[in-house]
Amino acid sequence: MDAIQIYGGNCLKGQVKIQGSKNAALPILAAALLINGVCEIENCPMISDVYHMLRLMESLCCTIDRDGHTIRVDASAVSRCDMPSDSVCVMRSSIMLLGALLARTGSVSMQYPGGCVIGKRPIDLHLQGLRRMGVVIQEREDGFDAETKELTGAIHRLPFVSVGATENLILASVLAKGDTVIQNAAQEPEITALCGFLQKAGADIEGAGTKTLRIRGVEKLHEVTYRVPADRIVAGTYLAACLCCGGEIFLKAAPCMQMKAVSAAASSMGAEIGESEEGLFAACRERRVMPPGLVTECYPGFPTDLQSAFLAAMTLADGEGVLEETIFENRFRIVPQLQQMGAKIQCQNNRVCVSGVERLHGTNLVAEELRGGAALVLAGSAAEGRSVIKNCHFIERGYEDICQDMCSLGVKCEVRKEFLSQPKALTKKF
Ligand code: EPZ
Repeated sequence: MDAIQIYGGNCLKGQVKIQGSKNAALPILAAALLINGVCEIENCPMISDVYHMLRLMESLCCTIDRDGHTIRVDASAVSRCDMPSDSVCVMRSSIMLLGALLARTGSVSMQYPGGCVIGKRPIDLHLQGLRRMGVVIQEREDGFDAETKELTGAIHRLPFVSVGATENLILASVLAKGDTVIQNAAQEPEITALCGFLQKAGADIEGAGTKTLRIRGVEKLHEVTYRVPADRIVAGTYLAACLCCGGEIFLKAAPCMQMKAVSAAASSMGAEIGESEEGLFAACRERRVMPPGLVTECYPGFPTDLQSAFLAAMTLADGEGVLEETIFENRFRIVPQLQQMGAKIQCQNNRVCVSGVERLHGTNLVAEELRGGAALVLAGSAAEGRSVIKNCHFIERGYEDICQDMCSLGVKCEVRKEFLSQPKALTKKF
């Protein structure tokens, strides 16, 4: 059992460099499968989700080399293989390989990627879109077999915004026969990054970052080197840490332009924000106030992935506040643990009402999923006394080293060795 021990209650002071984006790196790694050759992907975060994705790619006969944050993928020998179920189930993003593999090999067998504690995470939009492009999908009890002689362009009108479905359909379209239109496409920066990688490799894509994507299938894509943008959710997590603890921090390389809704929410709580080419400065000198009605939305709205972190900050803000989750059906899992720390929160379906308290007290906590686990680290950093957060492997899925990062911001934080039963996943060299 892995755990982080924190002695909280102090203001933050310091700076941290923001890692590459998990949610951009994963679809870009999947896109590398489309290229019959070598790609170099720079600024790739060394997190367990990337590790699992690389393992999956190796099982598909890719050759993977890693030099620090640069991943070299040789996908020239990609063939039809069944993906190892242990990695598919561990990580939902394995579904992102589907579109790319169908484009490359025409045949994929995989288990359903499965849900997680935040929601059922169905993939109906992915499968409906691929069927529209000429894929025959035989669903089984625990998974499906997908086959196609040739992917053909289609018009997709997504009934609601889905980041993953948008990404899968982009990956299936760039080498398809004919044109594809994706209406009601996701506009997240991670979609723009994926399109940037593909365009640099020779794909014909218009409308990246808008609600309508037009993709003209091309014969082949060529080798490319591409740099993953900084992670706006990791940057937003540490901005929320400043809201929780107070103090002043600098987030080096934070993608300020992609964080407008997050910075606006932080400013509405009393944070002083400074943006520059180098990164984002934040200072919280007075007790925070409640944001006026925070609602999670698709980009460019306030991101669901920062809902837990801002909830932690709201527990210590002055007054009464409301936070509404509109993307996932079960994303308030940390409420009982925040209540154990002294927070006053009432849950009403997909909304929580928070009455701010002066202080939280440290206690034993258990991470149940990635972003909730990170929020517990923030709450423990703000709480008086000692907190121990167990199951930190969930947090390692998306943060290279949250403990080290929080130490850089002045938090007394360490990994509890006696809890470490196995070496960290990332010590393995590829
Ligand atoms: C991506 O997940 C991100 N993951 C999530 O980040 C993020 O929270 C989410 O987008 C929303 O921004 C990665 O990029 C790897 P969706 P994804 O498809 O693609 C429903 C994190 O912490 N839906 O946009 O799975 C779905 O259940 C993770 O980094 C269907 O009903 O999200 C959800 O309610 C968590 N059918 C909503 O749509 C489908 O076929 C949005 O999901 C697909 C989705």
